[in-house]
Amino acid sequence: MAKAMLSLLVHLHAALLFVPEPAGAGAVYSVVRYGARGDGASDSTRPFLRAWADACRSPRPATVYVPPGRYLLGRATFVGPCSSRAVAFSIAGTVVAPAGYAWDGATAGQWITFESVVGLTVSGGTLDGRGDALWACKKQQPRGHCPTGASSLTISNARNVVVEGVRSVSSELFHVVVLQSRGVTVRRVTVEAPADSPNTDGIHIHKSTNVAVYDAAIRTGDDCVSVGPGNSNLWIERVACGPGHGISIGSLGKQQGMAVEAVQNVTVKTTWFTGTTNGLRIKTWGSSKRGYVRGVTFSDSTMAGVGNPIIIDQHYCPDGGCGGGARQQSSGIKISEVEYDGVRGSSATPVAVSFDCSRSNPCSGIRLRDVRLTYQGKSGRLQAAGAVSSCRNAQGTASGLVVPPSCL
Ligand SMILES: *[C@@H]1O[C@H](CO)[C@@H](O)[C@H](O)[C@H]1NC(C)=O
Repeated sequence: MAKAMLSLLVHLHAALLFVPEPAGAGAVYSVVRYGARGDGASDSTRPFLRAWADACRSPRPATVYVPPGRYLLGRATFVGPCSSRAVAFSIAGTVVAPAGYAWDGATAGQWITFESVVGLTVSGGTLDGRGDALWACKKQQPRGHCPTGASSLTISNARNVVVEGVRSVSSELFHVVVLQSRGVTVRRVTVEAPADSPNTDGIHIHKSTNVAVYDAAIRTGDDCVSVGPGNSNLWIERVACGPGHGISIGSLGKQQGMAVEAVQNVTVKTTWFTGTTNGLRIKTWGSSKRGYVRGVTFSDSTMAGVGNPIIIDQHYCPDGGCGGGARQQSSGIKISEVEYDGVRGSSATPVAVSFDCSRSNPCSGIRLRDVRLTYQGKSGRLQAAGAVSSCRNAQGTASGLVVPPSCL
């Protein structure tokens, strides 16, 4: 496993050294020609937006090019649809967010957004969200007056988009967000933020369909990949996660505004978790909000010192934030047809497999196959104080070698 992970990292490193080639991609619009300065201090927001406007108007394929250097960029929304269906945003340098959190992106929730574009490639470069000041605020006043913060890169209401070779560091909020989009591929993306940075999900997918994530290396303070409500047909393959909170479907059941919260047809394949609080997780709040999670396959996963390697938590309530006995409510989200195939490694807690499902909507069709998880080097029943499984309102089957022994 170490070897596979190493080769992934070498692969990613090579991707980072690769400087996007702006030539050959039709007309090239360098932001420098519009007055952007790579000095890390001059505000380049207007030049970036003007370069985009011209590229987007071009009837031919067009590329916005950001040369090497550090470009200070305020909140920027690059809006389509464009004249051609082949617009590229090619970054060789580093784009930095405004310092502190007293800027409009931090209250709007978004820093760099591509909106309503059809046929887009965003490649290369580093996005530095400079989240430190906001994280410090949130840690000092958890229920206080800090703004939400800005997600660094959002693909919104878009179709046929590729995000590749992008490195996101220190996002104030989520690093990469795919929102209400179809046909999005995110590949060779790296994410870096401290383990204790709040709400810094690596890749968040929301109300989208046909989204694929390949070859991501994510070290962050929240979920490495989070799958929100309204998603279907997702493929997530070769993700190295840690530190972080794991790969999560949910949380569901809290969002306002959607009548039914559903997630359907998700494949999560070949993943490595190192020192994460969770591994493969499905979480719903203990609320009566209706919905379902159906058709999820987790296969080929390696855990090293993971808090909850396999977990379904239908009484999700972080920081005791529910109050008023909400934790006791039975979740209205039905979870079914979830398979775990080939999960091995070590748990950092005795309960390596936990299915804590809804009383009114029990989990069904849970399948465990070839699972081997240890705790303190031991694996369940045969050896005292090894890893164990815990089931509540969960139905399903186990096949192959399953340790700790299944409680389904
Ligand atoms: C499930 O999603 C995958 C993409 O991840 C897609 O290829 C497949 O056709 C989907 N299956 C169904 C039944 O829609």
